[in-house]
Amino acid sequence: MATVILVTGGTGLVGKAIQHIIDTEPEGSRFGKRPNETWIFANSREADLRDPEETKKLFEKYKPTHVIHLAALVGGLFKNMKYKLTFLRDNILINDNVLHTSYKFNTQKVISCLSTCVFPDKVEYPLDENKIHSGPPHESNFGYAHAKRMVDVQNHAYQEEFGCNFTSAIPTNVFGPHDNFDLEDSHVIPGLIHKCYLAKKNGTPFVVSGTGKPLRQFIYSHDLAKLFIWQLREYDDVEPVILSVGENEEVSIKEVADAIVKAVGFTGEYSFDTTRADGQFRKPASNAKLLGLMGGFTFTPFDKALDSTVQWFLQNYNNARTGKTN
Ligand SMILES: NC(=O)c1ccc[n+]([C@@H]2O[C@H](COP(=O)([O-])OP(=O)(O)OC[C@H]3O[C@@H](n4cnc5c(N)ncnc54)[C@H](OP(=O)(O)O)[C@@H]3O)[C@@H](O)[C@H]2O)c1
Repeated sequence: MATVILVTGGTGLVGKAIQHIIDTEPEGSRFGKRPNETWIFANSREADLRDPEETKKLFEKYKPTHVIHLAALVGGLFKNMKYKLTFLRDNILINDNVLHTSYKFNTQKVISCLSTCVFPDKVEYPLDENKIHSGPPHESNFGYAHAKRMVDVQNHAYQEEFGCNFTSAIPTNVFGPHDNFDLEDSHVIPGLIHKCYLAKKNGTPFVVSGTGKPLRQFIYSHDLAKLFIWQLREYDDVEPVILSVGENEEVSIKEVADAIVKAVGFTGEYSFDTTRADGQFRKPASNAKLLGLMGGFTFTPFDKALDSTVQWFLQNYNNARTGKTN
C-alpha cells in the first residue's frame, strides 16, 4: 500500500536531517526509504499551519497516510522570555490544526515533536516519560512548554474518543547542519560555532558565557532523524518516547567550546566570562525506554558530529541562518 509521509517543519534542523537520512541510507534498510513511500517536506511558505484552511489545503494536496509533525515556533531563551503569548498561541494553533486535520483525513499515524524543556522546573532527575505533567514548567518558557505539553493531552484524547494512533517524541538538545546560527537567538552549539567563526575571521577573542561547567545531553540531528524513522515504523503507543543519548553521555559546555575551537581551527585568545549566568548545572533525561524498545542504537560520537556541523556551517555560511550580523 502506498505510504505518504508528510513532515511538517520539514525544512528546519530536524526536518532536513530526516530528508538527509531518507536520501542517503540504503533503500529498504531499517532507516532507509521503502519502495512504497513518498516523503513530503513542507515549510511555512507552502502552508502556514496556524491557519486551518491552509492546513486543510496541504492535507488535500498530499493526502498523507502518516505525519511527522515538527513545525513549531522555536527560539532561544531570550525570544521565549519576550514572546510568551506568541509562543503559546502560535504553537497551540499549529498543533491543533495539524492534529485535527490529521483526524479528519483519517491519517493512520502522527508523531508530534515535544522537547525536554517542557518538563517541570522542579522535578526529580533523571527526566523520564512519566514526569511531563508533574509540575509547572520553568517560568522563562512557560508559553512554549504549555503549548507542547497539550499535544500529549490531545494525543490521549484523540485516542480515547476517536481511536487515533497519535504519539509524540521528546528530543533533548539537537544540533547539526541547517540549524539556526543566529548570534542573538540560537541554541548554545550553533551560537558558539558562529561566535568562534567570527572571532577567527576578525582576529578577536572567543569568549564563552558562563563557567563552561554545566552539563547537557546533545543529540546529532542525523541520529535523531533515524530515531524518528524508527518511531514512525516500529512504535505504536500514545505515550511519548524520549529521543536522546544516555545520561552518561552528558557533555560540558567547555567540552563543546573546546571541540568548536578545534573544528573551526581557532588559535586566538579563548576564555570564559564567569560573570554571566550558567543556568541549571545539569538536567539529565533517561533514554532507557528508547533503548529498551529499539534493542540498542549507535550514536555518532559527539566530536565527529560537531566537526561535521562546523564543516557544514563553514561551507554554507552565505546561505545558513545567521541572522543580521553577517
Ligand atoms: N532544536 C532543538 O534543539 C530542539 C530540541 C527539542 C525539540 N525540538 C523540536 O523539534 C521540532 C523541529 O525543530 P527545529 O529545531 O528543526 O526547528 P527549525 O529549524 O526552527 O524549523 C522549524 C520548522 O517549522 C516550520 N514552521 C514554523 N512555523 C510554521 C508555521 N506557522 N507553519 C508551518 N511551518 C512552520 C519552519 O518553516 P519555515 O522555515 O518556512 O518558517 C521550519 O521548517 C520543533 O517542534 C521543536 O520544538 C527542537
